[in-house]
Amino acid sequence: MMSRFAFAASAAVLGVVIAAGASLAPSTAATPGETVKMRQDAMKSLGGHMKAIKTFIEKGEGSADDVARRAAEINDISGKIPGLFPQGTSMDQVMDPKTGAKPAIWSEWDKFTAAAKTLGARSEGLKMAASGGDKGAIAAAFKQMGSDGCGGCHKPYRQKLEK
Ligand code: HEC
Repeated sequence: MMSRFAFAASAAVLGVVIAAGASLAPSTAATPGETVKMRQDAMKSLGGHMKAIKTFIEKGEGSADDVARRAAEINDISGKIPGLFPQGTSMDQVMDPKTGAKPAIWSEWDKFTAAAKTLGARSEGLKMAASGGDKGAIAAAFKQMGSDGCGGCHKPYRQKLEK
């Protein structure tokens, strides 16, 4: 009887230890390194959309409809950016893979999320311009999205990596 009680008690203690260990893990299922990889992939897809839209503006390849679709995807990704930057994933904390996420992201979290929202607003603007079909308006909205949206966050929060 006594030993059964002791076993149950130690199992309970073990349970607490396991739970404490589990709480040290990031809230997302991914490891910090996996999270960095995911957000760099998301950023790369933003880069891909930018390139394709630029090709439309400069060479007329593709269509305004395609630009509108890409603007909607950029808008979608912009909403996911904050979730891709959990605590503990700055360039001082993750070495593999290398990350260019400056620690200021977390000390200025509200500004960082506001920068993501700015990209959301500018991509919405680009989508509207693309739906209108006017090339000059599309070019202007694209430029604004690049400087305010991407540049507005990269300038303060991204260290460009040598790859
Ligand atoms: C709210 C902030 C924010 C916005 C908005 C943003 N980025 Fe980024 N971007 C970052 C940060 C931070 C990094 C560094 C991420 C890392 O290395 O972990 C980055 C990295 C990148 C990279 C390099 C990815 C790699 O493989 O290392 C590309 C390309 C990129 N961004 C493109 C864009 C484009 C294009 C836009 C606009 C359409 C954009 N980003 C908007 C914060 C942002």
